[in-house]
Parts: sequence; C-alpha cells; structure tokens
Amino acid sequence: MTDLLLAPKRMIELEIDGQPVRVFEGETILGACRRLGIDTPTLCYGDTLEPANACRVCVVEVEGSRVLAPACSRKAEDGMKVQTDSERVRHSRKLVLELLASSVDLSTTRGSARRRRPTPIATASAPAITSSPTARRRPPSTRR
Ligand code: FES
Repeated sequence: MTDLLLAPKRMIELEIDGQPVRVFEGETILGACRRLGIDTPTLCYGDTLEPANACRVCVVEVEGSRVLAPACSRKAEDGMKVQTDSERVRHSRKLVLELLASSVDLSTTRGSARRRRPTPIATASAPAITSSPTARRRPPSTRR
C-alpha cells in the first residue's frame, strides 16, 4: 500500500564515455552502462543479490573522484562523468583478474596440461620419477 503512495522517481542525466544517458535516481552506474549497451564486466554482482562489492572487476573512473568506483554499487548522480574504458580502468581490471587467477588452482580444470601429464617431482635426495621406460632401466648411479 505504501508503494502506491511513493512519489515517482526523478530522472537524472549523466555522461558515460561521452554519451549522455538518463536513468532513474538511485540506479547504479552499472545500470546506466547497460542502458547504453556498454559491456561492463562483473563477477560478484547478481540482479537478485545485494551488491557484494567484493571483486572490483566492474570499476569505472568517475571524474573528480580520487579512486575508481565499483559500477555495480555506486549510485549514478546527476551530472556525473564516467569513463569505462580508460587506461586506468583497464589496468585495474587486469590486476584484479590476475590476483584472482593467482589464488585459484587451475591444475585440475578441464583441458589443463598438468592434468594430462603429471609433472615429475624431484628433490635433492631423490631424482625425478618419470614414466620413461629407459629411465627406469638405468642404474641409479648413472642418473642425473
Ligand atoms: S561486480 Fe564485483 S564489485 Fe562490482
């Protein structure tokens, strides 16, 4: 019932990559990007989820802002100027993806080279174990 009594949302206008766009007040920069058809990458964002604001892969550059802003949770503001494809944005997204990839073991993923052929494990006291038949036949004193 109270929803019916709410005033209609005001429209605001901002600029994304030099293109003007009008969105409802309270909409995110990501929503504004999607209205323009600008593809902004997301990982932790979901339409039915509260913004987690965790992965930072959706960052954009907002004019006058010292830090990059997550497009999925930052509200669009009237007169705002946003860059989605600047050098700074691309560099930041690349770093985020590299950090995420470095924390995940991809060796068991489908098509991984490590999965098809296990890497021999060698230590100073024990030579590498290989599947080569000639390596197994050679006496231990001649192995290098
Ligand atoms: S999609 Fe993860 S912070 Fe925006």
